[in-house]
Amino acid sequence: MKTDITRVLMEEHQLILRMIDLLEHNSARMERGNFSEWKFFADALDFIRNFADRHHHAKEEDVLFRALVENGMPAQRSPIEAMHIEHEQGRAHVRGMDIALQQIRAGETEQTQTLAQHARAYAELLRQHIEKEDTILYPLAERVLPQNMRPEIVEGYAQADTHAPKVAQTYRALVEHYEASRSTAA
Ligand SMILES: [Fe+2]
Ligand SMILES: [Fe+2]
Repeated sequence: MKTDITRVLMEEHQLILRMIDLLEHNSARMERGNFSEWKFFADALDFIRNFADRHHHAKEEDVLFRALVENGMPAQRSPIEAMHIEHEQGRAHVRGMDIALQQIRAGETEQTQTLAQHARAYAELLRQHIEKEDTILYPLAERVLPQNMRPEIVEGYAQADTHAPKVAQTYRALVEHYEASRSTAA
């Protein structure tokens, strides 16, 4: 029986997808003019930067993808490169959201359109990215990576968790907070 090396990443995907749902929902409300809770967008950016990117994508890029390359998967012109490119595309939308949010807070309310566009593009990108990882890349990793590489991968994930203690609880609580206020919103 091989040690599992993708379940924790798939669980993180589930939390990221919940935040993406909130992001799309609140962007649509903002565009209809009945949502101006800017703190939500600031918190969503914090979640994306620190949980989805720094925490989750770092586990992929520094641990799992690195192991796949060590095991012989090419780093270029390969699924690994495609996933790296999508992580970068996500970062570009995050920068776009951040700039638009700062402009809105400085009074440029017409930037709500830009904020919503980047939020929607990010949501679409990440949803299909996660789908590819869950259904193609992770199953492939589970098939090809030998057992002797797996303890180090699990240790790499554990180290990422140790460097950022409470990150999982903190961001799960944040998602739950906004899900609860969504269900009570008119
Ligand atoms: Fe990824
Ligand atoms: Fe991922």
